[in-house]
Amino acid sequence: LQPKLLAGRRVLLTAGPTFEPIDPVRGITNLSSGKMGYAIARAAREAGAEVTLVSGPTALATPYGVRRVDVQTAQQMHDAVMAQVAGQDLFVAVAAVADWRVANASAQKLKKQNDADTPELHFVQNPDILATVAALPQRPYCVGFAAESENLEHYGAAKRIKKNIPLLVGNIGHQTFGRDDNALMLFDAQGHTALPRADKQTLARQLVREIARRLAA
Ligand code: C5P
Repeated sequence: LQPKLLAGRRVLLTAGPTFEPIDPVRGITNLSSGKMGYAIARAAREAGAEVTLVSGPTALATPYGVRRVDVQTAQQMHDAVMAQVAGQDLFVAVAAVADWRVANASAQKLKKQNDADTPELHFVQNPDILATVAALPQRPYCVGFAAESENLEHYGAAKRIKKNIPLLVGNIGHQTFGRDDNALMLFDAQGHTALPRADKQTLARQLVREIARRLAA
């Protein structure tokens, strides 16, 4: 019997959107379904890894055998990742993290006063979770995702270098959010390779094989 590809490895992932409150009943989010991240978590567990999934709000079931930590905001996702990152062999950042949060979120529900009155929202930047992990002195092998709408080959290679990570996975085309299928382009120091359109679970298993090969090298 062949040993599993990620046997004995510890894997930490982020997945899904974040939710940034405006007031107790409103907020800002995005169209990430979490499907790609959950599929990778499942594939990593199938490959023998001990998997922790830090997840924004999704409607998905926790994959079998995966430890899941639920968060809402980017700051909470950052804090949960930093609390879990020690001793991890691999970090896969799949979440669509909000770049900004509302600086003046209201503790009370905002009320419509009169026709002329509209609330003003101010924003502050959220921490870049992937960049923070990639800058750790004892960092795990870091994999990032990119959802570029055009010129993926150029931006993907540039983003990998900017984020200072060994592997960046680009979604080919911007039609991935919410879908069951996807197509990926892998960027590493050697160049890029395409994983043609397939359902996300199939792609996740292929990606885990690609990652395991690089981890073992
Ligand atoms: O720079 P950009 O947002 O396109 O980078 C996307 C990658 O960075 C994804 O892997 C995403 O999960 C990660 N990211 C993060 N924290 C942020 C923003 C992005 O971990 N605040």
